[in-house]
Amino acid sequence: MAATGNIPQHVAIIMDGNGRWAQERGLLRVQGHQQGVETIREIIQAARELKIRFLTLYAFSKENWARPRPEVDFLMKLLSQYLDSELQELEKGGVKFNVIGRIDQLPKEIQEKIKRNIKQSEHNRDLVLTLALNYSSRIEITDAARCLCESVKAGRLEVSEIDESHLAKALYTRDMPDPDLLIRTSGELRISNFLLWQISYSEIYVSEKYWPDFKREDFLKAIQEYQKRERRFGRTEAIQADHD
Ligand code: IPE
Ligand code: IPE
Ligand code: MG
Repeated sequence: MAATGNIPQHVAIIMDGNGRWAQERGLLRVQGHQQGVETIREIIQAARELKIRFLTLYAFSKENWARPRPEVDFLMKLLSQYLDSELQELEKGGVKFNVIGRIDQLPKEIQEKIKRNIKQSEHNRDLVLTLALNYSSRIEITDAARCLCESVKAGRLEVSEIDESHLAKALYTRDMPDPDLLIRTSGELRISNFLLWQISYSEIYVSEKYWPDFKREDFLKAIQEYQKRERRFGRTEAIQADHD
């Protein structure tokens, strides 16, 4: 287990490399996605043990709709199954389920399961698990700008009053702190339209492992690496984030 103290409050993960994991084994890409679900379970468990408060997982981007139809269909089926199996876990308590993204454009059956899981877990307090689904950070920011314009038009807000906090409160993540740590698996050095506003001061950790190979010890390694970082937020000296 990682050293206690200085545990990141919010960890966000770009779960990448399922397809390559499968292809390297002569399997179908979708088998990589299936295996990726096992990693999700393992990492949620590790996050709970470490007492991380917020875990946000990038599961499906708006851009992922452009993949071949059978892969997209499989991902939706997998998500639907996951929402059912997750419900049993949620009922055991502890994890509060949440989503970000344009949920209204997902299949109706999935929307219903999302609503059910949110409702079922609304009183859980240990960990807020957020899945980014049909998510695009640029759309999130565009929607937020539109929302502020509507407030101005309706006379609820003056243009001169608008500051960073107004925009932050118009994002899907309004009830969450910004991620302290952003992890990306499979070695890619890019953000792929994920939480662009929120990661302004996040520490970034890239693992060479494909997501299905990313295990509890790899997660702990990322946390330990985070614990060694000096976060300065533009100042000359390190600032220790004070969470509780
Ligand atoms: C991440 O793995 C899962 C999703 C984007 C849904 P990929 O499917 O992107 O796997 P690679 O990056 O092609 O190997
Ligand atoms: C980012 O991975 C999206 C998710 C993990 C859901 P992608 O595989 O879609 O990103 P790119 O195409 O490598 O940028
Ligand atoms: Mg990928």
